Amino acid sequence: CGIVGYIGQNDTKDVLLNGLEKLEYRGYDSAGIAMLNDNGMNLFKVKGRIAALRGRVDETVESTMGIGHTRWATHGVPSATNAHPHQSTTGRFTLVHNGVIENFQDLKRDYLGDVSFISETDTEVIVQLIEKNFNKYQDTAEAFRQTISLLKGSYAIGLIDKEDQDTIYVAKNKSPLLIGLGDGFNVIASDAMATLKETDQYLEIYDQEVVLVNRSFVEVQKLNGTVVDRKPFTAQIDVSDTEKGTYPHFMLKEIDEQPFVMRRIIQEYQDDDNNLKLDQDVRDAMKACDRIYIIAAGTSYHAGLVGKQFIEKLANVPVEVHVASEFSYNMPLLSEKPLFVFISQSGETADSRSVLVKIKELGHPALTITNVPGSTLSREANYTLNLYAGPEIAVASTKAYTAQMAVLAILAVDTAQAKELQLDFDPMQELAIVANAMEVLTDQKEAIEDLAKNYLATSRNAFFIGRSTDYYVCIEGALKLKEISYIQAEGFAGGELKHGTIALIEDGTPVIALATQSEVNYGIRSNVQEVEARGANAMVMSMKGLEQDTDAFVVPHVHELLTPLVSVVPLQLLAYYAALHRDCDVDKPRNLAKSVTVE
Ligand code: G6P
Repeated sequence: CGIVGYIGQNDTKDVLLNGLEKLEYRGYDSAGIAMLNDNGMNLFKVKGRIAALRGRVDETVESTMGIGHTRWATHGVPSATNAHPHQSTTGRFTLVHNGVIENFQDLKRDYLGDVSFISETDTEVIVQLIEKNFNKYQDTAEAFRQTISLLKGSYAIGLIDKEDQDTIYVAKNKSPLLIGLGDGFNVIASDAMATLKETDQYLEIYDQEVVLVNRSFVEVQKLNGTVVDRKPFTAQIDVSDTEKGTYPHFMLKEIDEQPFVMRRIIQEYQDDDNNLKLDQDVRDAMKACDRIYIIAAGTSYHAGLVGKQFIEKLANVPVEVHVASEFSYNMPLLSEKPLFVFISQSGETADSRSVLVKIKELGHPALTITNVPGSTLSREANYTLNLYAGPEIAVASTKAYTAQMAVLAILAVDTAQAKELQLDFDPMQELAIVANAMEVLTDQKEAIEDLAKNYLATSRNAFFIGRSTDYYVCIEGALKLKEISYIQAEGFAGGELKHGTIALIEDGTPVIALATQSEVNYGIRSNVQEVEARGANAMVMSMKGLEQDTDAFVVPHVHELLTPLVSVVPLQLLAYYAALHRDCDVDKPRNLAKSVTVE
């Protein structure tokens, strides 16, 4: 979910609606805004997108303070009733919330037995509790602090008291929230991207702090009321990075940006003498550990699987890769000197964060590899490596995935150097070749669009098969396709097909085979024969040097270790065009959100 708020001299409508549009990647099943003026609170809520909310908002309402929210449903179906902002029974308090209140049932039972609830959300419990506490303390700031101290779980909250046109009350725990500082106005936002047009000066808020946001000042407090001094920072995002420009979709723009991202990574991780440039403490931690535990979700997990190959093959350190949400249930027996590596585009994924909290309690060190250096996972880990991919806005991750693999390759080589291992692999030179290969691929959109039309435009399902490293790219290619085109797609290890899944192959079933590794070129082609013999409509995507005449597509030659960075590009484009030809919403697929801050 995403939150935005404004208090200033000008009309708040546009700031809220434009800000919410920038936050739509965080969730987009329902939305709402509340604006306070002398006539009282003006509340507008809809099921659906911000575009629908725009149509609902009364243009004639003028107000200089307001809060807004775009939702990814957790408790309660997407509907106008369950959309935020939520109000207390008398209508005095209006609130937006991002996160999950774990003890909302207990709070309802213990304090709010006499209140009748309108929505099914955990959020309404917060606002009702604030009203309850206000009746007791007759002071909004105190009622707010008292309520916040009862909450368990994650939250970023913005609250308005109808009787006070000068304050937005803010609180945060685990969920992201920033305060933007302006001249005569201030804003709140889940992501600086939402309010960059207003200001580039932001205040970080730490967990369990409360902030009073006024037109001319901002006061950060601890839960006991003690005032905290905090200096602002300058947001390093360019407004143009957050816009589509001439592209029809962010996803296509982000696919095209991959060569530039590679070059930026090369630049950022290299000093003037062309030596690798990583913080000494990251190097020391990598050298000191006896085993690495990579923790990640979704696409970042897939990058981790490839990263394991880099680290084990180049740096000779054993690596385990774990899905964040599963890690705690059957925690592996840890080695004596473990190092945890969190891979997360957003740096906010709650599943990963809960592992971080747990392993910190156990006293183990953590490195976060993220695209958002100030994010929760980055702040709370001991070390951070930046992906330098620029804002990624399409829900389906593309440039962050290839950036993650590039940074993992650099990390692996750096560790090998720290351990004084002899390597015949220059990562920067090889990544420069990757960048060029990516450019060649992004210039071949028409060819890939044709393949998407021929193989995927009308199919119900699709299989991606590969062996060795290609297998990891196959599960990422399948994830891309299912996320945005809703085709049921699976990635399989070529050799594993015959042990069950081959039963699903029918006449015309699309099978996409990757062949970029010399060691398995023969094996994967045998698998293609097997599925074709059973009626599959198979295509091979191979790498230059390993190609055969019948191959549907050939990617340029790159170092065999780095083929995933290149072979994924046609799969990203295949998913993109399949979704386009099936009239799907490419950037905002149904049921998903880009940054999932709930477990
Ligand atoms: C969500 C997104 C995925 C992403 C995953 C992990 O589910 O829809 O695209 O891969 O979260 O996100 P992270 O920000 O931790 O990489």
